[in-house]
Amino acid sequence: MKPLKTLILSLILLLAFFLIGSQSFTYDASLISEKNSKDYYQYHRFHSRDGIGKFYLGREIAKVMGHQEFLWLERPSREQQEKPLKVIESLNLNPRDIIADIGAGSGYFSFRLAAFVPDGKVFAVDIQPEMLDIIDFLKEENKINNIDTVLGTIKNPNLPQNSVDTVLMVDAYHEFEYPREMMENLVTAVKPGGRIVLAEYRRENPLIAIKTLHKMTEKQVKKEMNQVGLTWEKTEEILPQQHLIFFRKP
Ligand SMILES: C[S@@+](CC[C@H](N)C(=O)[O-])C[C@H]1O[C@@H](n2cnc3c(N)ncnc32)[C@H](O)[C@@H]1O
Repeated sequence: MKPLKTLILSLILLLAFFLIGSQSFTYDASLISEKNSKDYYQYHRFHSRDGIGKFYLGREIAKVMGHQEFLWLERPSREQQEKPLKVIESLNLNPRDIIADIGAGSGYFSFRLAAFVPDGKVFAVDIQPEMLDIIDFLKEENKINNIDTVLGTIKNPNLPQNSVDTVLMVDAYHEFEYPREMMENLVTAVKPGGRIVLAEYRRENPLIAIKTLHKMTEKQVKKEMNQVGLTWEKTEEILPQQHLIFFRKP
C-alpha cells in the first residue's frame, strides 16, 4: 500500500510541476550559447515565458512585440490608459526641438510629438522595418514632413552624434535586447544637457494588468540609467498606470 501511495504522490507532484512550469516559465537551451564578450548580461535556462532568458542588473528582458500586433498600439483605449497628450505636455517642448522616439512602433507617439515641433523634427526609430513602413505610409497619407524614420539595430539607434534634444521611450525600453549598448549609443546621440525620458508601466503595483516583464520599477530604471552616466532629474507620477521618468545627459 505504501509504495502505491508514494507513487501517486510523486505523480501528482510531477504533474503540478509541469502545469506550473507551462504557465509561467519556459526552458530555452539555445540562449545559453549566446554569451557574448560583455559581462553585462546573465543567461538562465529557466525563465519567464514572456522573456528571452537574458537578464540585465537582475531584470529579465522581455520579448519584442512583433509588428503584427501594431493594431494593439493604436487601440483607442490608450488615450485614457496612457494619456499621450499629458506625456507630451510634460516634456515642455520647444517648436524647434529635435526629438527621438525610440521603439516608435507604428508611430503612436511620433505623430503626436511632430505636431509640437513644427520647426523641428522627430526621429522615429525602430528595429522592425515593417513598423517604419506603417509610419512612412501614415506620413504620406497625412502629409507630415517633420518625421524621419530610422532603422535601428538591437544595439544602436543609428542617430547622429549630439543631434537630439529629447529622447522619448514609451513602453519600449524593457524589450531592448542590449539595453546597455543601446543606452550608451543613445547618450552619444543626445546633445549635452539633453534629456532621456522613459514611460514604463509601474511594476511596484501588482494590480496593473500588464505582463510583469512589460513593467519596471522606478528603482530599476534609475539603476540602469545610472550605468551610462545619466542624471535622474524627476519622476512625474501624472499617468494612471505608468512612471514618467526624466534623466539628463550631464
Ligand atoms: C511595445 S512597442 C511600443 C511602441 C511605441 N513606443 C508606442 O508606445 O506605441 C515597442 C517597440 O520597440 C521596438 N524595439 C525593440 N527593441 C528595440 C531597439 N533595440 N531599438 C529600437 N526599437 C526597439 C519594437 O520593435 C517595438 O516596435
